[in-house]
Amino acid sequence: MKKATTILDIQKMKAEGEKISMLTCYDYPTARIMDECGIDMILIGDSVGVVYAGYDNTLPVTMEDMIYHTRAVVRAQPKALVVADMPFLSYQIDMVSARLNAGRLIKEGGAAAVKIEGGVNVAPVIEAITSMDIPVVAHIGLTPQSLHRMGGYRVQGRNNEQAEKLLADARAVESAGAFAVVLEGIPTALAAKITSESGIPTIGIGAGPSCDGQVLVIHDILGLCEKYAPKFVKRYADLKPVIAQAISSYIQEVKEGAFPTEGNSFN
Ligand code: KIV
Repeated sequence: MKKATTILDIQKMKAEGEKISMLTCYDYPTARIMDECGIDMILIGDSVGVVYAGYDNTLPVTMEDMIYHTRAVVRAQPKALVVADMPFLSYQIDMVSARLNAGRLIKEGGAAAVKIEGGVNVAPVIEAITSMDIPVVAHIGLTPQSLHRMGGYRVQGRNNEQAEKLLADARAVESAGAFAVVLEGIPTALAAKITSESGIPTIGIGAGPSCDGQVLVIHDILGLCEKYAPKFVKRYADLKPVIAQAISSYIQEVKEGAFPTEGNSFN
């Protein structure tokens, strides 16, 4: 039986040149399927707020939301390394609340690691959390919680000044103790440079093919999110019409009295 994936396994994959697969997941049945397929890392992303709860962005997501969804995923006992996102305002206020909230995702949620958005600006927070022996995945580039500062979901690092800033961010999160870093929405060449300079695995999303691994939002790859369609997403299935067909058939059979039959009823 496959043993549980640890941060050491993830770091070894970079060392050995094996690409790392990661997907977001927010519920028990999907976590079971993902694990049967052999995904390396599962992210309970705060994207849950957008693709699952229907908010316009990730900012309203709470610690309680994250703990609820992390528990649901962990109940599937995945062999994948489970990483939970720290939502907006759970780590920006002070170190005490950052440490407490990271601890809650491990203790109450059952995650093995947490993810934090930001670079140089959150390096002290990463240090504080890793000093509690909680593994941290950093997240730099297009950081959705910084939506208003960025003026929208824009590719980051396109000019020299921004590229230098991102290189500094990557160095800062690694020095602060992050064991991996998500690179979101940055040009391919810059992601390749960060990946080759970095001692920790880079996980790309909209950062080209040179990263050590890739992450996507599960609803995007299954064709279940109509709100937005970023260029970096690849749709591996189109489940919406499949689900709509099943629901329409059910409605029709109920209306016609074709469901339930005797086989669906008790004597
Ligand atoms: O919340 C999320 O799903 C994420 C990924 C897009 C990296 O942070």
